[in-house]
Amino acid sequence: MSIVITGSPGVGKHTVAKEISKYLGLPTMDINSIAKEAGLFEKNDDTNDVDISDLKKIIKEKISTPSLIVGHLAPYVLSPDQIKKVIVLRRDPYDLISVYKKRQYTEEKIRENTGSEILGIIAHDAINQFGTRVFQVDVTGKSIMEVTKKVLSIINGDETNDEVDWLDLVTKRNDLKKFFTY
Ligand SMILES: Nc1ncnc2c1ncn2[C@@H]1O[C@H](COP(=O)(O)OP(=O)(O)OP(=O)(O)O)[C@@H](O)[C@H]1O
Ligand SMILES: [Mg+2]
Repeated sequence: MSIVITGSPGVGKHTVAKEISKYLGLPTMDINSIAKEAGLFEKNDDTNDVDISDLKKIIKEKISTPSLIVGHLAPYVLSPDQIKKVIVLRRDPYDLISVYKKRQYTEEKIRENTGSEILGIIAHDAINQFGTRVFQVDVTGKSIMEVTKKVLSIINGDETNDEVDWLDLVTKRNDLKKFFTY
């Protein structure tokens, strides 16, 4: 059975997966790389849209060996029967803005991704797909080592779940207009 690390772009999935894979001795499987290698990203724009049904088939074949699967598309391309636990990393949207600016994302792409994190889209879709196998970890203000420890403890059976409510935070700071266009 495989373990999944997912969450919005820039929350630290790959950084943490690199550490986790050392401890678990599982091969890492990067969903984005697989999609890229298979030529599934639509090339006519820069939105990185991907053909989900094709990707699903390719991944199903690849995870016949247990793996550490990493990627924000995890809820849409994996079936529950192949998965033991799903870790959704959550990160303060204000921190994500800095990550995205460093990556030189456009304003639109920044708003799209922070908006999605605020509404918890990936966490919601992961719970819909994997139910009680999903665990959220708030990485905000935690070192990479602390996040790694927390994720490992969940994998090893400490089934605690962080509660995050970025929408409440953003609303209280009067910042809805910063993250959403209306
Ligand atoms: N716990 C942490 N504390 C501070 N910075 C971190 C932490 N984890 C990761 N980072 C930094 O945040 C940035 C994004 O991390 P990373 O590339 O691992 O995200 P990702 O979730 O894999 O993104 P993507 O979905 O785009 O692949 C990197 O600059 C990384 O060094
Ligand atoms: Mg990454």
